[in-house]
Amino acid sequence: MQINYNLKPASERRTQQFKPETNVGFGNLRTDHMFLMDYRDGEWRDPRVVPYGPFEMAPGAMALHYGQSIFEGAKAFMHDDGEIYTFRLNKNAERLNLSGEVVCIPPVPEAMQLAGINALIDVDRLWFPMQDGACLYIRPFVFATEDRLSVSPSQQYTFCVMLSPSGAYYADGFDKAIRLLITERFHRAVSGGTGASKAAGNYAASLRAGKAAAEYGAAQVLYLDANNKQIEEVGAMNHFHVLKDGTIIIPKFTDTILKSITSQSIMELGEALGCEVRQETVMLDQFIADIESGEIVEAGGFGTAAVVSPVGSYIFEDHRVLTVGDGQVGEHTRRIYQVLTDIQKGKRQGPEGWMQKVERVAP
Ligand SMILES: Cc1ncc(COP(=O)(O)O)c(C=O)c1O
Repeated sequence: MQINYNLKPASERRTQQFKPETNVGFGNLRTDHMFLMDYRDGEWRDPRVVPYGPFEMAPGAMALHYGQSIFEGAKAFMHDDGEIYTFRLNKNAERLNLSGEVVCIPPVPEAMQLAGINALIDVDRLWFPMQDGACLYIRPFVFATEDRLSVSPSQQYTFCVMLSPSGAYYADGFDKAIRLLITERFHRAVSGGTGASKAAGNYAASLRAGKAAAEYGAAQVLYLDANNKQIEEVGAMNHFHVLKDGTIIIPKFTDTILKSITSQSIMELGEALGCEVRQETVMLDQFIADIESGEIVEAGGFGTAAVVSPVGSYIFEDHRVLTVGDGQVGEHTRRIYQVLTDIQKGKRQGPEGWMQKVERVAP
């Protein structure tokens, strides 16, 4: 794929490695450029790296009206050799197309996605923030641009990638366990719907539930299935729990649960983590009983942003609180976090192909 580079003049670009003095937070910053590619007449064309900035888009662009829009989230890390490495980006590229299938967005060939993302990171590599636990958060997304008021698949799209230099997610250490609201009032997904897709509308639909959680002093909602019988997801993370023998259980992937790349990585690591990791249908009643009896000792969420979010307690709508173990971050949760983040930072050898170096090819 021939990528065109229309770069900012050197005087307007970062010329030295970014060395922020305070934690830059997650998702707040942008780099100098973005990657764009358009879909017209049945093919992706004009791949280019251009200055980061506003899009020109028709008010009738279908993404704005009918929400035909999908996204991904991945990370790149700087290793001790000073090079930048992406983490399992091929899995994100594959999932973008699974998301697209659900909302009738044509596939973006994986090789094109990977080439575009690598080109962008390469150009903006000086934006990697030099601080402990930092990453470049990668946000690829596709949205419908055709100017047509009709609920039908758009014939035109834009694929865009932007980067966000981000600081350590747990700036004050990995010590705080969150609380989740268990509610029958809100649902994230139904079978036959869009739950297994990173479709933008799923996240708009989750905002109301997030607000309700905050009213209970909870960080997020624990989403149940539409019949309120099974545990599905946590906000924008997969859910997990740990049995007292150390076994990690993740709800079985269905068409209402996003196939988390973090969860898949933990399942693939299995033995390296020193415990069994398996997927099951998790019934809410049994889950509660097992926490009460002490059979379940830890719980949490898996996702790219936080990697692991320990859950210390659940709250019900009648304000009853269910504490997991001693309510603190448990040893298994800590180990999972440590192993996965060590692999990402290049401190520990991960499975073949997980970390891919961003080559230096920019003009
Ligand atoms: C609904 C939902 N579930 C789970 C996840 C975690 O997936 P991953 O580990 O690939 O980030 C995400 C975030 O991408 C999400 O939005």
